Amino acid sequence: MKTLKLNSKIHTDLETAAEILGNGGLVAIPTETVYGLAANALDAEAVKKIFVAKGRPNDNPLIVHVSSLEEIPPLVETVDERLYPLAEKFWPGPLTVIMKKSPAVPDAVSPNLDTVAIRMPSHPDAREIIRLSGVPLAAPSANASGKPSPTSVSHVVDDLDGKIDAVVDGGICSVGVESTVVTLATEPPTLLRPGGVTVEELESVLGKIAISPAVLEKLKDGEKAESPGMKYKHYAPKARVTVVKGSFEKYKKFLLAQKEAACAVCFEGEGRYFENAIEYGKENDGASQAHGLFEALREVDESGCGSAFVRCPMIDGVGLAVYNRLIRSAAFRVIDLDISIPVIGLTGQTGAGKSTVSGLLAENGVYCIDADILARKAVENPEVISALAEYFGNDIIVDGSLDRHELARRAFSDAEKQRMLNATVHPEVTRLAVEEIHKAEKSGANAALIDAALLFESDLTAICSFTVTVIAEKETRLERIMKRDSISREDALIRMNAQKDEEYYIGKADIVINNNGGNLAEEIRKILSKI
Ligand code: TXA
Ligand code: MG
Repeated sequence: MKTLKLNSKIHTDLETAAEILGNGGLVAIPTETVYGLAANALDAEAVKKIFVAKGRPNDNPLIVHVSSLEEIPPLVETVDERLYPLAEKFWPGPLTVIMKKSPAVPDAVSPNLDTVAIRMPSHPDAREIIRLSGVPLAAPSANASGKPSPTSVSHVVDDLDGKIDAVVDGGICSVGVESTVVTLATEPPTLLRPGGVTVEELESVLGKIAISPAVLEKLKDGEKAESPGMKYKHYAPKARVTVVKGSFEKYKKFLLAQKEAACAVCFEGEGRYFENAIEYGKENDGASQAHGLFEALREVDESGCGSAFVRCPMIDGVGLAVYNRLIRSAAFRVIDLDISIPVIGLTGQTGAGKSTVSGLLAENGVYCIDADILARKAVENPEVISALAEYFGNDIIVDGSLDRHELARRAFSDAEKQRMLNATVHPEVTRLAVEEIHKAEKSGANAALIDAALLFESDLTAICSFTVTVIAEKETRLERIMKRDSISREDALIRMNAQKDEEYYIGKADIVINNNGGNLAEEIRKILSKI
């Protein structure tokens, strides 16, 4: 199918759009929130085509767009009285209201539900197209399902060219995130999706409203979604997105310490510190962040980076909508760098005595985290498993879990594969480490310590306040390894020789602890005096 490109500045183009809609076709239209993929809401066959073009799950209901209040009574069982003050204050505009539906609404619009979602957009072109069509228009966002919503005509063309009848260019969407969705079918009314109209604004009309748990958190397995759209991973670029909480200083240090090319999605004026950066609005200004968010998420893939770290907005006002979209694009991965205790990174050659040092620090109130345990946990994460299976082959999964020996065999045979393994597992280890550090804070520990053989090869240094290496003479280490692991001198030497030399560790560490049998307590004081 050839997609007709129409321009909203030409009135006959709007008439053409309306005609296509009247004939059961699909037209992408501009609205003030995001572009919508419209069809005649009263024509079930036309509505079904929307799901096919977008690749949208069938159970995800659509919003019906009207251009006047008179169009609403035929769509609903009864008009909820509270609609009028809402309409008075927020319509036309970025608010969608859910009410019990009438039989005139085809099942395809809101499958298996007894409700319908209605919105009166403020974008003049959207209103004119609805008026000219003479019917209400069902329209989800005009993106391929799962991708960030489109805020300019080029986004629509990227996703849907050749799959829909026409697209109307009406410029860049001013709000930038989809409408606020509130249902009047519950008591009290419930916010299902935050958007351009804030919770505070809604409550000024409706009184206290409930907030669906899906707004801020991932639904638990089997939990029913009040708004089906909220249960899907959404708004996601191909790159692995992580939301980063905390000050810009912490964010900057964290990003600059990343081992693999990462894209910094940050606020205005912050991008100049990074090689790959996209700015998406002003800090503390939810409206400007909302405006730039989806464009930024689409640009992430153009940077070619495998991962993106996004500065976290303030989670209130319009920022709530920004955060709600971001955590979905990040599959709910959030790292909170707001850490109030010192974090010690501990490493060293095998047999040097890292465990002895961490044991002594634990006796002095330090919370010790073993990176090996986190690495094992990281490869239990289904998302990590599927990324590894995609690269190393499905047969590294046996009975749903990873065959770690086979993975190691394949990865260690070649440097590029090793790099790929680290790039997939290390960021997850870092995320888990931050979670542990927050547990340490809560437990009242005076510091946290991360014991990691590959500290300097991973991005764990990004979260360390300072680093420590333990050193010991080669002969001492050899004896310790043989005794500790009950292995021969030859095997112990093989392990030792596989590691980097002592100078490497000394050159990178802030503190060097000499563990050759002297006064270790004295050495440890070097660390304790820094926390
Ligand atoms: O700003 C917007 O709302 C844009 C523009 C085009 O108007 N539209 C939009 O539609 O975002 P869509 O389909 O991408 O998102 C609609 C959301 C989904 O999360 C869906 O599950 C929810 O609204 N929804 C629609 N009807 C519903 C209903 N009857 N009950 C519960 N949730 C409903
Ligand atoms: Mg959508």
